[in-house]
Amino acid sequence: MSSKYRLLVKNAKQVVLICNNGEKYLTKTGMQSLCVIENGSVVIGSDGLIKAVGPADTIRAQYPEASFDKVIDATGMCIMPGLVDAHTHPVWAGDRVHEFAMKLAGATYMDVHRAGGGIHFTVEHTRAAGPSELLASLSSRLVRMQRAGTTLVECKSGYGLELQTELKMLEVIEEARRTLPINISSTYCGAHAVPKGKTVAEATKDILQVQLPLLKDRMSAGTLRVDNIDVFCEQGVFDLSSTRSILQAGKDMGLNINFHGDELHPMNSAQLGAELGALAISHLEEVTDEGITAMAKAKTAAVLLPTTAYILRLPQPRARDMLEAGVIVALGSDFNPNAYCCSMPIVMHLACVNMRMSMPEALAAATINAAYALGRSHTHGSLEVNKHGDLLVLNTTRWEHLIYQLGGHQELVRYVVIKGNVV
Ligand code: NIG
Ligand code: FE
Repeated sequence: MSSKYRLLVKNAKQVVLICNNGEKYLTKTGMQSLCVIENGSVVIGSDGLIKAVGPADTIRAQYPEASFDKVIDATGMCIMPGLVDAHTHPVWAGDRVHEFAMKLAGATYMDVHRAGGGIHFTVEHTRAAGPSELLASLSSRLVRMQRAGTTLVECKSGYGLELQTELKMLEVIEEARRTLPINISSTYCGAHAVPKGKTVAEATKDILQVQLPLLKDRMSAGTLRVDNIDVFCEQGVFDLSSTRSILQAGKDMGLNINFHGDELHPMNSAQLGAELGALAISHLEEVTDEGITAMAKAKTAAVLLPTTAYILRLPQPRARDMLEAGVIVALGSDFNPNAYCCSMPIVMHLACVNMRMSMPEALAAATINAAYALGRSHTHGSLEVNKHGDLLVLNTTRWEHLIYQLGGHQELVRYVVIKGNVV
């Protein structure tokens, strides 16, 4: 007789639901009072979805253990939703450890970029790499992220800057989606930099007239899935007007707008994103007060990336001002050759120490709000009935240890569960 349910995780000291009223995101007040059950259990059905979350006694009375394929006794441990990483660049060849040394010696991000390094260095190596090499390194990076608790991750292209390599990157992401348990949201980021030898106008024209139309064909044929469109809107990269036309064209194809804005200079990216109905804008170290107000009003999530500000010694993103203004604040690792960090627990730690978020705020930002930034908060980001059974079992009696402990989370994250399977 086949079992009716896939997984029971029982008797946990704490179960952190995040929210339990079907909210699609949380703003400041909700982030400060996360829903936590003491002595709880979680039931995941054979379809991988959550069937019940509640006090251990109630679950025990309703769900006989014999009807489960697998039971995890979480006595003395905590259960929380899988973490969501709302911003990564994980497909690339070559690393930039030599540039880290240059930056430590005083070079800025743009000094390195203008000298032909940075994104240009990675583009050169990624163009030359074959798909199997890219898939192998992507897979090992995603497994590292998963071990640190990430169960849904956004993955960008953007180290091709021409049709063939951008497509190669998106296909590699698609292959990872097919073969690995981790959930992926994929992003076309062909406007990540202006290719060497081209003007902004030429690069924009290539994206609008060559790259996006082909992407559209592949998406309609069902041979490629792409979820979001991204542009690096920055001085010396894509200006506001080219950013606008690329994002609008992506939106017209049904992609969610989720782009890099106001990172190194105030560009009015936040206002543009709000106007275009962007789901999310990342970075925002240089956002203005007007930009913050516009994002709060438009319900455009702010994806803050504490690793970038830390590594580049930039001003910290204004998390507190955004929270006060009612912005939906999310977090991402920004994993890329500049910011080599696969760990959302470290990202939450940095967000708390450097951006002055509280631990509950950081956790909400790395779960429900990050899922919202990817248009997935109806299925991911909290432990609620009918959402995906993606959760972590932590070997500690207080969930805050996941943020308090700086690194070395392999012992702490005892189980990572995706759709009811221990991965
Ligand atoms: O989000 N700012 C632009 N893009 C990345 C960096 C990518 C790179 O340097 O390779 C970021 O930090
Ligand atoms: Fe980025």
